[in-house]
This record gives sequence, structure tokens and C-alpha cells, in this order.
Amino acid sequence: MVTMEEYFNTYQSVDPQNVLHWVRVGEVSDFPENAGGCIKYKSKQVAVFHFERTNTWYACQNLCPHKLEMVLSRGMTGDAAGIPKVSCPLHKKSFSLEDGTNLNGEEYRIATYPVKIDNGNVYIGFAD
Ligand code: FES
Repeated sequence: MVTMEEYFNTYQSVDPQNVLHWVRVGEVSDFPENAGGCIKYKSKQVAVFHFERTNTWYACQNLCPHKLEMVLSRGMTGDAAGIPKVSCPLHKKSFSLEDGTNLNGEEYRIATYPVKIDNGNVYIGFAD
């Protein structure tokens, strides 16, 4: 079980210009289309999403901040007024995959990470 303190220390968004390491997390074919996969980097579980229709990729913490459950990679993806989102499978809280904003208007949000595809490989940008 993750505590609030561990949560805030572990998960912080990374902007593309702050990436220190691009970590290869698999091949494109290792991840489902229009659904999530999960990878581990250090102490982080990170959900990875491939939106096939727009051929865009997103990564965010796998931990849902609502009840601190590791479930977001199993969430429902879609968009809210053009914003790509993931909805938690437990209580349906929705988060922007672009910047982690809570789309239900609550204060808590999720950390997001840059993703790049190079030569069929998937890389996630981390700052630690
Ligand atoms: S645990 Fe994710 S919405 Fe409640």
C-alpha cells in the first residue's frame, strides 16, 4: 500500500525539456492499441497508452490518486472535448493524459511523462 507521502515523493510530471533519461520500455508491438500497458521504472509504476487512431502515445503514473490504487493502466481511454484522457476503472475519475489534470474538477492530479517512438521502440522520459 502506497502512502500519501510516498505518492507525492514518487510521482512528479516530467516536461519534455526536463528529460534526463529516455528509457526504452519495449517495442511498439508490446503495447495494446487503444488500451494501457504498465511498466516499472525504479519505484514507479507507469501506465503507457497508445491511441491508435491518432497514433499518439501517453504515459502517466499507474497509481490512481483517488484511493491510491495501482489501476490506471487498466482504465478506459477516450477524450473529453478533445483532451485525451484515462478514466480509472474503480470509480471512474478521469485525468488528462496531456498534463494530468483531474477532469472531474477535483484537486488531485496525476503525473505524466513524455513518450517517444524511435525505430519501433517505445521510450519514456524521466528526470531521475
Ligand atoms: S481509485 Fe481511482 S477513481 Fe477511485
